[in-house]
Amino acid sequence: MIAEFYKKTYGSAPTVIAQAPGRLEFIGNHVDYNKGIVMGVSIDNRINVAVSLREDNEIHMASEVLKAKGVVTLDKVALQKDDQAFMNYPLGVFAMLRQAGMKVEKGFNFADTSTVPLGAGVSSSAAIELATAYALSKLYNFPLSKIELVRLARKAENDFVGMPCGILDQGVSGFGAEDALVRIDCKQETFSTLPLPHGTAFWVFNSQKKHALVEGMYAKRFDECMRATKVLSRYKSSITCLADSTPSAVEANRSKMDSDTFKRAIHVTSENARVLEMETALADKDLSSVGDLLKASHASSRYFFENTCTEIDFLVDELSKQDHVYGARLSGGGWGGVVIALTSPDYSKKEADELLAAFEKKFGHKAGYFKTKTGPGAGLVQ
Ligand code: GLA
Repeated sequence: MIAEFYKKTYGSAPTVIAQAPGRLEFIGNHVDYNKGIVMGVSIDNRINVAVSLREDNEIHMASEVLKAKGVVTLDKVALQKDDQAFMNYPLGVFAMLRQAGMKVEKGFNFADTSTVPLGAGVSSSAAIELATAYALSKLYNFPLSKIELVRLARKAENDFVGMPCGILDQGVSGFGAEDALVRIDCKQETFSTLPLPHGTAFWVFNSQKKHALVEGMYAKRFDECMRATKVLSRYKSSITCLADSTPSAVEANRSKMDSDTFKRAIHVTSENARVLEMETALADKDLSSVGDLLKASHASSRYFFENTCTEIDFLVDELSKQDHVYGARLSGGGWGGVVIALTSPDYSKKEADELLAAFEKKFGHKAGYFKTKTGPGAGLVQ
């Protein structure tokens, strides 16, 4: 319980408590910063943040899950290293709030608790950013709308933490709702929800693989996508992002790109088209097409974006062979993390256990799984 953890740490009750969920990427892999359409789901695992004002100019932070504590002063809010690096997401949000005009005269105490698996590809980072944004904007009486908080949280990750992510994670954590898919038009920055397909369940398989280079690889892919955009915009000036283009236009310009740039552009443009097809399949309640699109999305990540890994591919391949599975794919940045499977309600623990046993036999270590429950988006608790 967050209130108890806060009290245990600071000896009094917190003034404000906020929460935000982790997210699953449903479809639209690496489409967000290429300004297309993406879809995600907020899960019922959340980060709670509790804060109060202090009388001095210090910021104290404590994380229950990481068993970490740290202190900085208001004039030293900068990227932290080593055992203080856990503070970076909330500090980034604080820095962006200040940059946006929030008046700060005194420091604050901060504590967080979490049921979001860390480093697993379900965006604990967006969850802590959104929960912090809600908590601190309330504490310092600096009211912002949900969309402003979502944008600010992303800015914290881009400009403070240094990860050039798009708006998927923060958008889904902010605008998520129970039994809903969040649809984001990343060019217009508009958010809406669609009902989850009836008669389905989501299972999440965690490869337990944390790729040490994820952030470096992510930035590399980001650069490759920007390079592809530049080539395509030379040929057609109305193209300002990869989502403005199509796979056939990319094909037509193949000779002007190196092979990596070409493959990344094929992935993003075809993935963006798949998201639109997904909307139709969902509206038609055509679960077999929904499943096929999930599988096609994974194949594109695997062969064109090259952001999967053996463990993840194995999980998707094996899931695709199992009864009761409509489709499965990598969810999130890639190079490890999680696979989501859309199944019929009949998919059982027995099938999931069989898959895990096969995984362990092949890789010599365990994978994990859980059946997803969707949950509400970020907000204030107290
Ligand atoms: C990570 C990023 C998101 C998005 C996905 C890939 O989760 O934080 O912005 O780019 O990868 O779709």
